Amino acid sequence: MAIRPILRYPDSRLREKSVDVRAFDDDLRQLVSDMSETMYAANGAGLAAIQVGRALRLFIIDGPVAAGAEDAPPKVFINPEIVWLSDESQTGDEGCLSFPGIYVPVKRGLRARVRAVDIDGNPFEIEGAELFSRAMQHENDHLIGRLLIDQCGPVKREIIKRKLRKEKEAEAADDAEASASS
Ligand code: NI
Repeated sequence: MAIRPILRYPDSRLREKSVDVRAFDDDLRQLVSDMSETMYAANGAGLAAIQVGRALRLFIIDGPVAAGAEDAPPKVFINPEIVWLSDESQTGDEGCLSFPGIYVPVKRGLRARVRAVDIDGNPFEIEGAELFSRAMQHENDHLIGRLLIDQCGPVKREIIKRKLRKEKEAEAADDAEASASS
């Protein structure tokens, strides 16, 4: 297993539209295993494959969020489709590992039902509420290149862009300093 770098906004790859997984092979198993490690290392509730640079219709959700049990493994969704959303909605702050430190209030369906296949290609359907439902909807957005920043108005969007740009500059300055002193 290995931790893979998480793409951060405004990396243009995050806008790519992911394609269906066709091969249920060792490469897929390695990717899912690395994504799990990457998500936990970053304290995330979910991660889409495109966030580690693979434009595949695949995301994982933290085990406790998906299954409610503390020791549950991450739930893997391959070629997922949201087949039902409740009319009842929820609005709450949402984060994203590609937007570190940014939280945006987003309105989502309170409950969602998703159809997908697992890592062996076996189909399943699962319904979730509250955080699980929110996480599935958020990760599913990644598969079509829809991002947290798209959920904001123009003013908030500019604030986020400026904040992330500043952080990137600060990191680049730190890197330059580190390489100069080493
Ligand atoms: Ni995200």
